[in-house]
Amino acid sequence: MDVKERIVAELTAARDRSFGLTVEALEAPELTAQVSPLMSPLVWDLAHIGNYEEQWLLRAAAGAAAVRPDIDDIYDAFEHPRAERPSLPLLSPAESRAYVTTVRDRVLDSLEKVPLVGALAGDGFVYHMVIQHEHQHDETMLATHQLRRGAPALLDPPDSGPLAEGTSGETLPAEVLVPGGPFLMGTSDDPWAYDNERPGHLVDVPSFHIDTTPVGTAAYAAFVEAGGYRDPRWWRPKGWEWRSRTGKEAPAFWYREGGQWMRRRLGRVEPVPMDEPVQHVCWYEADAYARWAGRRLPTEAEWEKAASWDPAAGRKRRLPWGDSGDSDAHANVGQRRHRPSPLGSYADGASAYGVRQLIGDVWEWTSTDFHGYPGFRSFPYKEYSEVFFGAEYKVLKGGSWATHPLAARPTFRNWDFPIRRQIFAGFRCARDA
Ligand code: AVJ
Ligand code: FE
Repeated sequence: MDVKERIVAELTAARDRSFGLTVEALEAPELTAQVSPLMSPLVWDLAHIGNYEEQWLLRAAAGAAAVRPDIDDIYDAFEHPRAERPSLPLLSPAESRAYVTTVRDRVLDSLEKVPLVGALAGDGFVYHMVIQHEHQHDETMLATHQLRRGAPALLDPPDSGPLAEGTSGETLPAEVLVPGGPFLMGTSDDPWAYDNERPGHLVDVPSFHIDTTPVGTAAYAAFVEAGGYRDPRWWRPKGWEWRSRTGKEAPAFWYREGGQWMRRRLGRVEPVPMDEPVQHVCWYEADAYARWAGRRLPTEAEWEKAASWDPAAGRKRRLPWGDSGDSDAHANVGQRRHRPSPLGSYADGASAYGVRQLIGDVWEWTSTDFHGYPGFRSFPYKEYSEVFFGAEYKVLKGGSWATHPLAARPTFRNWDFPIRRQIFAGFRCARDA
């Protein structure tokens, strides 16, 4: 497949997912309602995806006429915070579907004529940006489904063999040593990379130990049972303030029934599986757990080195297991399964250091604030990442079970406020060597 054929296939696949999470999953009243002030109405996400595509692939890349310039303001994420979006004069679900389809038809027409050259379109960059944008919103829409009350709207995909293999009886060391030394952080040549992953630069990382798997629900439940949420020793001041203000005592969507932890997952209630990575914890909870366990969160550089550096070859791998290879075979990504896989799954997905489940399963909180790399240049617009740089946001790495493989790579940088729990995030621990 050449670059253009790949773009057409990926645009089409992304749209199937977007429709599956919106107009094919719920009736109009639920698509226009807001389930939480943290989230947009699903129908806003859908038309916003089309408006973003119109702006970048029609107007910017192809120099084509605008389809609906009158709605740019409504779907501008910076003009209207999420809490405000349900009160905007949004397109209806049927209008949104028709609008994104019109935009898409014109994009596919123009793609045949537009040469993939220049700063924006060279190597397909702006198309890759738009495809990943749609996938990122698909993950956000899934978080909206998770917050939603009522009967399940999505089918639970059947679990299949390799997705749920666990450690199959082998003994996995709890942690590995990553010896000190420089590694290449970020990238300068990945045609799928966003501005915030660039430029690639050497970072000298002192020796450290890192967990071979994310922290599991059993270990996290032990922290809860040990009174971890009631002991300020484990929490940093702002975390304790969050804990006291919200009264939280366990991960989001967990509750106790008899002696057992239960969880609500996409409208279904089930016992919390004790062999899965914990998810729906905020950064403060991850940080407190790590302190209780006598450990700490990894820095972003530690995480990325453990995930991508090949010490024998002295070079960076594009993915933990190598430069290519189907992520589906090496990791739990792409919403094929609506939950993380058991701890220790995907032996074939291990990094050169033997660290597992770095890609997929759960986003992993790092201790690092979201800033630009040395030499960062915003491209093609400041609002993708630059306006978020600062100490208020923490970096998350690796993607979750809900992340499309095209947006799950060791260099990819996600970020959120340290109080957020609606994203599919967990963590793993590290310690100084
Ligand atoms: C990278 C997930 C934090 O959802 O705010 C979507 C992605 N940027 N539309 C977000 C994004 C523009 C972004 N995150
Ligand atoms: Fe967006």
